Amino acid sequence: MSDRLFIFDTTLRDGEQVPGCQLNTVEKIQVARALEALGVDVIEAGFPVSSPGDFNSVIEISKAVTWPTICALTRAVEKDIDVAVEALKYAKRKRIHTGIGTSDSHIKYKFNSNREEIIERAVAAVKYARRFVDDVEFYAEDAGRTDNEYLAKVIEAVIKAGATVVNIPDTTGYCLPSEYGAKIKYLVDHVDGIDKAIISTHCHNDLGMATANTISGVINGARQVEVTINGIGERAGNTALEEITMILKSHHEINIDTNINTQKIYPTSRMVSSLMNMPVQPNKAIVGRNAFAHSSGIHQDGVLKNMQTYEIINPRDVGIDDNSIVLTARSGRAALKHRLSSLGVDLTQEKLDKVYEEFLKLADRKKDIHDDDILVLAGADRSVNHRIKLEYLQVTSGVGVRAVASVGLNIAGEKFEGAASGNGPVDAAIKALKKIIDRKMILKEFTIQAISKGSDDVGKVHMQVEYDGNVYYGFGANTDIVAASVEAYIDCINKFVTK
Ligand code: KIV
Ligand code: ZN
Repeated sequence: MSDRLFIFDTTLRDGEQVPGCQLNTVEKIQVARALEALGVDVIEAGFPVSSPGDFNSVIEISKAVTWPTICALTRAVEKDIDVAVEALKYAKRKRIHTGIGTSDSHIKYKFNSNREEIIERAVAAVKYARRFVDDVEFYAEDAGRTDNEYLAKVIEAVIKAGATVVNIPDTTGYCLPSEYGAKIKYLVDHVDGIDKAIISTHCHNDLGMATANTISGVINGARQVEVTINGIGERAGNTALEEITMILKSHHEINIDTNINTQKIYPTSRMVSSLMNMPVQPNKAIVGRNAFAHSSGIHQDGVLKNMQTYEIINPRDVGIDDNSIVLTARSGRAALKHRLSSLGVDLTQEKLDKVYEEFLKLADRKKDIHDDDILVLAGADRSVNHRIKLEYLQVTSGVGVRAVASVGLNIAGEKFEGAASGNGPVDAAIKALKKIIDRKMILKEFTIQAISKGSDDVGKVHMQVEYDGNVYYGFGANTDIVAASVEAYIDCINKFVTK
């Protein structure tokens, strides 16, 4: 009989902390529903005291999902716990995730405190949270760099105080897999009452070891893992849900099961990447565009003879359906709906009609329509509520001539025009835009990505613009990369003009 591993997804909390990945409440509900369908056990829905947006999202996610436990993060502070309790009021199953830093550097520099006082604060927070909910998870922040003997004391005390789950984060992604596994084993062997709580891993990927550390933790006794879709998260990210799930599915000798419906992994990955405007690196394990692409002749020959020669996972097991209907200008609404649905996007009839119209226009310009193209189209009305909209863009450029551009904007219903020349078409277009919106804006980052391979491809542009000491993130997508760049710049501007 295999053991059961609980999957705690923190895409909507640790993942959403990434600059530029913020979702609105409607998008968070969409992700939460996809996580429920994927089969995660716990959804960490936010940090309610941190902002009214987070508070509201925890409320709405609690209403929207049924089966998974909804978890809210707090510091070891009564006010945080009170706010989390309020935010969780509609959750069918609820958990408070409270905690405090336990490494010497956190104790000294963050709290200006001492080891004894930290234990007292940890115990008080757990006891306080237990007054409101039966399920309380305690995190020992920076446990990865906390001395094991002291960590065991903290964990023993919080379990005695009523913690049902004890989280051992490698907050800085510092541990080696052997070291992290040994830490979990030390707790299993030295904490009185450890059998009364579930040990959880929470590994960051700063040195590229998050997945290895998590698996080492599981092998040594952890029975919950904290993960995100596509491994997104602070800095280099968190452990990727898809990697842990497929490692356990591939390595039967570990003898541990999860509740994950692996065929929903790929659609969920695409959905999160698209909503968060966070491209998945092509060589990302399990969900990257190249994860199952065999390009060398020798590999192709082997795979054609027998898939097992070079593939350890059947792509269909993670929801990559290579026989899926090819979408062209002759595809009907039903085919588009089917593809969107398999990518985790379910649209109302009205929205589907609009996306279909855009799809036909794109299909006229472009031979192959890829999944990313239609995901962009499905999110293409992001600008509907924008105060500033692009009305037209005209650019002339070439070799040996200076590029010139004219731009027309609609700002809250009023029309404005600007023209400028520049070092290239994007430079000219952005200068023309700045003639209309005359503010001190600095372009900090600018990336252009073609969605697939052809010269007729949709280009995606991500931008960061600094204004008034803050950095704003924008996104644009168009078959014309100059237009995509201007859209991305306008998207940034809309973020601060609405403030
Ligand atoms: O990385 C970390 O330590 C965390 C805790 C707040 C759980 O995210
Ligand atoms: Zn974290």
